[in-house]
Amino acid sequence: MTYRLRSVSALLGITDRVVRAYEEASGVSIKRANETNPASPPARVFDPFSLFEIAQWRRTSGAVKTPESGPIIISTYVVKGGTAKTTTAVETAVHLQAQGLRVLLIDIDVQANATQILGYEPDLTEDEAPDYGVSSDAIVRDTLASYLVPYIEALNKNSGTLNLSSTVTRAIKKPFGEAGPHLLPSDAFVSDVEPALFQAKGQRELMIRRLIDASKSGGLPGFDARNYDVIIFDCPPSVSLTSAAALAASDFVIAPIRLDSFSVKGLAKLMSELSVLERNYQLKPEIIILPTFYEPTIARINRMHKQLSTYRDLLAPCVISSSEDFPRSLSSYLPLSLQKPTSSASKEYSIFAGYLFEKILSKGAEKARKVSE
Ligand SMILES: Nc1ncnc2c1ncn2[C@@H]1O[C@H](COP(=O)(O)OP(=O)(O)OP(=O)(O)O)[C@@H](O)[C@H]1O
Ligand SMILES: [Mg+2]
Repeated sequence: MTYRLRSVSALLGITDRVVRAYEEASGVSIKRANETNPASPPARVFDPFSLFEIAQWRRTSGAVKTPESGPIIISTYVVKGGTAKTTTAVETAVHLQAQGLRVLLIDIDVQANATQILGYEPDLTEDEAPDYGVSSDAIVRDTLASYLVPYIEALNKNSGTLNLSSTVTRAIKKPFGEAGPHLLPSDAFVSDVEPALFQAKGQRELMIRRLIDASKSGGLPGFDARNYDVIIFDCPPSVSLTSAAALAASDFVIAPIRLDSFSVKGLAKLMSELSVLERNYQLKPEIIILPTFYEPTIARINRMHKQLSTYRDLLAPCVISSSEDFPRSLSSYLPLSLQKPTSSASKEYSIFAGYLFEKILSKGAEKARKVSE
C-alpha cells in the first residue's frame, strides 16, 4: 500500500505543506516516485509505516497533546450484532494513532474480526501457516487470555507467580511497525477468559482493570499499558463477564448504533449493565453513542437519528454513513482508512476520532487532577 502526499495529509489532519516540513525535520526516509524514472517529477511515495512514523514524530516533537493521566481505556460495545463495533474500534485506532496518540487495540471477541482486518490469521497454527503461504508473524500465539488466565489463577492461589507461556513476550502485534497502532489479537483461546473470570475469587468484573494496573507496574512481560495513550477493547456483542470486565476497566464506552435496525434496544441493555457496575463498584464509564449506517435520504433513518437526540450529551455530533466500501474492504485485510485515506468513510472516522481525542484529553486531565487531590 502506498500513498501520495494528499492521502497522508488527509490522515494526519494537517496540510500538505506541514507534512513536507515534518518529513524534512523528522528525517523519516520517504521514497520518491521518480527513483526508477528520472524524467518524472519527484513525487513523494509514503506507506503506512512512514505515515505513522511521521505521526509519532509529531508527538515526540511536542506538536500533539497527550492524556496527562496515562492510558485512557475505551470499549466498543453494545448488545447487538453487526452495528460496526469492530469497524469503529479499528478505524478509530488508526485515526487516533495518525493524529499522534499511541494506541493499543485489544481484540476480546472470539470472532477475531479486528485481528483479521489488521492482517492476522486467527485460524492457523504455526505448523499450518507455510501450507497457506502465511508468514509466521501473521499467526496468533497469545491473546488477552495468555495474561488474564494465569493472573487470575495466581490471585486465586494467593501467589505472586504468573505461569505465562514462553511466547507471551511477543503477544503484542505491530502490523505497521513500532510507530503504528499495536494489537493484542484474538483467536479461539480468548474464550478461556470467560470461565477464568467466572472462577475468579472476589470482584470478577474488576479483573481486567487490575491486570492493566499490574502491567503499569511492570508485572507483565511484553505488555506495559504505560506505553499507550489509549487502549481500545473490541467487545463481542453478547452480555458476558468478559464484556463486563472490559466495561469496568473503561473510561469510555463507544456504542455504535445502526440506524437501519433495532440496535437502539441494545443501548437500553448497555445502560442497565452500566448501572449494575455503578451500583456494585461506583464505576461510571462515559457512553458515546455513534450513529452508523447513516443514510440521509431515507426518512425512517432520519426519524431514528432524531429519536437518538433524546440522549443529548451522549450522542456524538457526527455520524458514519452507510458505505459499501466497508464490506468491500474486508478482503484486503487492511483498515479502510488505510486503503482509501481520502474516502468520505475515512473522513467521517477522522472527524469522530478528532471528537474523541478532545474527550480523551479532558478525561486525562480529570483523572490526573483526582490523583493529585
Ligand atoms: N458504515 C457502514 N456501512 C456499511 N457497512 C458497514 C459499515 N460499517 C461496518 N459495515 C460492515 O458491516 C459488517 C459488520 O460490521 P462490524 O464487524 O464492524 O460489526 P460488529 O458490530 O463488530 O459485529 P459483531 O457484533 O459481529 O461483532 C461488516 O461487514 C462491515 O464491513
Ligand atoms: Mg465485532
